Amino acid sequence: MAIIEKKESGTFTLQTRTSTYQMKVDRHGMLLHTYYGAKTDESDYSYLIMPADRGYSGQPGDLGNDRTYSLDFYPQEYPVYGDGDYRITGLKANLEGQVPALDLRYHSSRIMDGKYRLEGLPAMFAGAGEEGISTLEIVLKDRYEELYVHLLYGVYEEEDVITRAAVIENHTGKTVELKRVMSACVDFAEGGFDLIHFYGKHAMERQMERRALPHGITQISSRRGTSSHHHNPFVILSRPETTEDQGACCGFSLLYSGSFQAQAEVDQLDQTRLVMGINEEEFCWRLADGERFTTPEVCMVYTEEGFTGLSRRFQRAFHQRLIRSPWKDRLRPVLVNNWEATYFDFNEEKLMNIARQASDLGLDMLVLDDGWFGKRDSDNSGLGDWKVNEEKLGCTMKELAEKVNALGLSFGLWFEPEMISEDSDLYREHPDFALQIPGRSPVRSRNQLVLDFSRKDVREYIEQQIFRILDEANITYIKWDMNRSIENVYSAALPEGSQGEILHRYVLGLYEMSEHLLERYPDLLLEGCSGGGGRFDAGMLYYAPQIWCSDNTDAVERLKIQYGTSFGYPMSSVSAHVSVCPNHQNGRETPFKTRGICAMQGAFGYELDLSKLSEEDKEEVRKQVKVYKENYKVIQSGSYYRLTSPWENHDVTAWSYVAEDQDRAILAAVYTDLHGNPAPVRVRWKGLKPDAVYEVEGSSYTGAALMNGGYLLPVPKCNYDSCLLIAVERQA
Ligand code: GLA
Repeated sequence: MAIIEKKESGTFTLQTRTSTYQMKVDRHGMLLHTYYGAKTDESDYSYLIMPADRGYSGQPGDLGNDRTYSLDFYPQEYPVYGDGDYRITGLKANLEGQVPALDLRYHSSRIMDGKYRLEGLPAMFAGAGEEGISTLEIVLKDRYEELYVHLLYGVYEEEDVITRAAVIENHTGKTVELKRVMSACVDFAEGGFDLIHFYGKHAMERQMERRALPHGITQISSRRGTSSHHHNPFVILSRPETTEDQGACCGFSLLYSGSFQAQAEVDQLDQTRLVMGINEEEFCWRLADGERFTTPEVCMVYTEEGFTGLSRRFQRAFHQRLIRSPWKDRLRPVLVNNWEATYFDFNEEKLMNIARQASDLGLDMLVLDDGWFGKRDSDNSGLGDWKVNEEKLGCTMKELAEKVNALGLSFGLWFEPEMISEDSDLYREHPDFALQIPGRSPVRSRNQLVLDFSRKDVREYIEQQIFRILDEANITYIKWDMNRSIENVYSAALPEGSQGEILHRYVLGLYEMSEHLLERYPDLLLEGCSGGGGRFDAGMLYYAPQIWCSDNTDAVERLKIQYGTSFGYPMSSVSAHVSVCPNHQNGRETPFKTRGICAMQGAFGYELDLSKLSEEDKEEVRKQVKVYKENYKVIQSGSYYRLTSPWENHDVTAWSYVAEDQDRAILAAVYTDLHGNPAPVRVRWKGLKPDAVYEVEGSSYTGAALMNGGYLLPVPKCNYDSCLLIAVERQA
C-alpha cells in the first residue's frame, strides 16, 4: 500500500516510486506537514520542527501560554486564515456577516483503493480495479462550527505523482462565505528555491523564466477568466543547482482552465510555502448550509532527476491518467486548416482547391476555421449565430463535408461557443446573455463580448445550435476557440451577493458543455484553443487531447514556445502547423523543411494554401507526412527529451523522442545562427539502451556512444537549416 498510517505517531506517509510525502496529526489535533522529498522511510519527520518562542507569533486559543507552538511558523497541510498564521493560507472563510476566522483540527480519515473523483471538474483517473493508485481522505473540522474540510490525496505509485484537492462542507446552519479556497498547500522547511514559471503574451506563450525566490510573496496568476497566455498554471520549485539532467525539483500543475493563482512565500525562518488554486480576486462563494464546494485538482511531482525527470513524469502521467480521448494513442489526422490560407475570404472553390491538394499530398483532414456562420466576414460580427452561411459556402455544411470526404479526407470545423458579437441576431434578441455590468459600457476585446456560461439556459442555447450542425454534417474534429479575456464579470441571472461565483461557475459550465459534447459524439477529436495557447492547461487536456499551442507559427519562435510547453505537458497535446513565409506573425523566412520539423514536434498539420505551393515544397510535404506517419507512435507516446535550450544555446535547438522499448529514436535540430568556418556541433542523445547498436543515417553506433560521445550534426547550409535523424536499433 502506498499510503501508510501510523496510529502511534499520527503520521500518514504517501509513497510513490521515488518520492515520499508525509503529514502528521499532532497532540493538539493540528495536521502538520512533515516531509515532501526524495523517497525515504516512514519515520516520524516531525522531529525536524523546532518549537521556539519567536515573538509576535501567537498561539491558538486552547493552547494557553505555550509560546513555543505557533502556526505562524509550523508547517501545515492546509493553513487557514484567522488562527495566527500570517502567511498565505489555503482557506479564508466566514459565516455570513462575520469576521473570517477558522481553527481546523483533525476529525477523521480513510484510505481507499483507486482514485477519488471531483464533481464537475477534470481530475486524473484510475482504471477500474487497477492497483497502485490509492486515495487518502483526511477530514478537518472547525473547532467551533460544523464546517468541514476534506483533504483529498491521490497517490499514483508507478507514475510517481500525487494529486490533491479540497472539499469544503457546510453544516453550520448558516451561509458560509468562501473568500479563498486553495487546492493545495505545501510547506517546505527550507528556503533557497528557484521558481520556474512560464510567462508570455498572445503569440508568444509559455516563455520559461527562472528566478531565485525572495522573501515575501511571489505570485504567478491570471484573473482573465482563462488560464491565459500571460501565465500558466504550472510552476516548478527547484534547487539553484538543478539542471536538465539532475537535481531536486518539484512541479505543481493545476487542472483548471480559469483564473488561477500560484503563490510562493518565503517566511521569517526562510521556509517556503507554495499554494495553488482558483484566483481569489473576484472570487467569493456563498456556501449554503448542507452544500459542498470542490476545488480543482493539483498534480504534484517531486524528483531528484532534474527537469527531464520532472517533465517525463508529468508527460507520462497526463498521457496515461488525464487524457481520456480515444484519439490519444491513435494516429491523429494530419490536417490542413484554412485560417492562414484564406482568413475570412473563402468560398467553396477555394476550400475545395485546398482539399484536393491535401488529398493529393497525403493529408487526412480539412479544417474549416472562422467565418462560415452568420454574418461573419470579419471579426466584428456574427459570434453567437451558429447558422451555416450557405450563401458564402455555396452549399450546405453537409454537402461540403461530403465533397471533402469524397476526396478521402475527414472534415473538421471551428467554433467559438463562449462568445457573442453585439452585431449578431443572438445579441439583438438576448442582450442579457452577455456578461456585462448594467449601466456601464462593457470592455470589448476583438469587438466581442463573453457569453454568460455560468447560466445553464445560455449554454443550452449554444449547445443546441452546435449539435444541430454536428448532427447534420460528418464532422469528426472541432477546434473550440476562445478569443478574449473576461472582464466586467456581472451575470444578469445571479443575485447581487453571488456575483463572486460567476467566473468559477463559468468554468464549470465550460466543462459541463465539453462533457455533453463528448458524450454525444464520443469519437470526436476536440482541439482546445484560445487565441492560440491562451488556455493551454491540464484541465483542458481532460477533454481535448490536443491544444493549438500558439497563433505564432514561425518555426523559430515556436522553438521557445514549444520548449516551455514541454516542461509540463505531453508533446502529443501540442498542436503545431506549417505555415507560409514570410511568416504572418513576424515576417521571418525559414526553410520549408524546418517548418515541418518544428511542427512535427507535436500534433502535426498545415495552415496554408497548399494549392499555391511550388512543386518542390509539395514534394517536401509528401515527405513530411510520410515521416510523421511512420514515426507517430514515437512522437505521440515516446519519451521526450530537451537536448539543448533555446535560451542558453543560441546556435542550435535540439530535442528527441525515444520509443517506449527504446528500439527507435528521433532527433531533431534547428540552427538558430550561422558562422563562417563553423565548429562541429555535437549533440548527445538521451534515453537509448547503452549496449544496443543503432543505425543512424547509414552508420552504426552503440547507444552508449550516441549518449556519451554524442553525434556531430550535419553542417547547416542556410539560415535556420535543420535536420531530423532517426536511430533504429539493429536487430540481432
Ligand atoms: C484564434 C485562433 C486562430 C484562428 C482565429 C479565428 O486567433 O487561435 O487559429 O482560429 O482565432 O478567428
